[in-house]
Amino acid sequence: MLTHRPRRNRKSQAIRDLVEETSLSVKDFIFPLFLIEGKNKKTEVSSMPGIFRLSPDLLIREIETCMKLGIYTFDLFPNIEEKLKNKTATESWNEKGLYLRTIRELKKKLPEAVIMTDVAMDPYSSDGHDGLVVKGEIRNDETLEILAKMALAQAEAGADILGPSDMMDGRVGYLREELDEAGFTNVSIMSYTAKYASGFYGPFRDALESAPRFGDKKTYQMNPANSREALIEAQLDLEEGADFLMVKPALSYLDIIKSLSDNFDLPIAAYNVSGEYAMVKAAAAKGWIDGDRIRDEMLLSMKRAGAKIILTYFAKEYALKHT
Ligand code: PBG
Repeated sequence: MLTHRPRRNRKSQAIRDLVEETSLSVKDFIFPLFLIEGKNKKTEVSSMPGIFRLSPDLLIREIETCMKLGIYTFDLFPNIEEKLKNKTATESWNEKGLYLRTIRELKKKLPEAVIMTDVAMDPYSSDGHDGLVVKGEIRNDETLEILAKMALAQAEAGADILGPSDMMDGRVGYLREELDEAGFTNVSIMSYTAKYASGFYGPFRDALESAPRFGDKKTYQMNPANSREALIEAQLDLEEGADFLMVKPALSYLDIIKSLSDNFDLPIAAYNVSGEYAMVKAAAAKGWIDGDRIRDEMLLSMKRAGAKIILTYFAKEYALKHT
């Protein structure tokens, strides 16, 4: 006779629930939202069905709705008008500009909402790159100065968590120091620790109209073939004072999530990116997969791999389907 029968632990829903190791909760989600200039304006991102660019008034209302569903943290990305973009991304620290103005208003109206911001030049850069371009090259150290101006302006506007998504070397330490010197010791940093040069960002760049105008991002974002490099990046972020380590994209990088979670004690976040969302939506629309089921299975796999936090465009949809 068989002594070991693992199926005994699967024999009923109650037993399966008892032995279940991982569970999803809306409390773990961060909902990324796209911001656009205007009033009462809402435009769907064509490659991300169900996801909209929202004008400030509608964005604030959307955040209010999501908070009632149990989502409290939001990562905001601005779609900046082409005429405001330039080489040095000066619009990124314009207090009256779309992004900072909206954050200020948001924090006044909804002080309990946790606002995460994006620190990188691409939405404001006429080159569409995350760093400063000089003679076709992305300059690291000059970029840090620009990122610091942006970060301080965001902190000033009330941001709770800064998300440097640029992949410049040394930026976490540089930002931490600048923030602390300016008195923003309570502003957190969620570092995009292992951000890969990925094809999965396509729909996001549609949403912001922020695709690089030349070349690609391979001199700063990581090579999808590498995992050991992620440990180096994580060690640096830890030493430089990051509060969270993020892996991006999530689905094709579950091994990286696991590796960081096994080796570091900071909370790990996974960014379930735009292309991952788009694939599920497209296949579900064709009737080829069960979108709801696959959404939950994907999100679960990220947690199982070791992510405590998931940034996902599915956040609201998940909350609506599970309440
Ligand atoms: C850029 C940035 C990107 C994303 C977040 N911040 C795109 C890129 O690096 O080109 C992608 C997010 C997504 O695809 O959902 N700083």
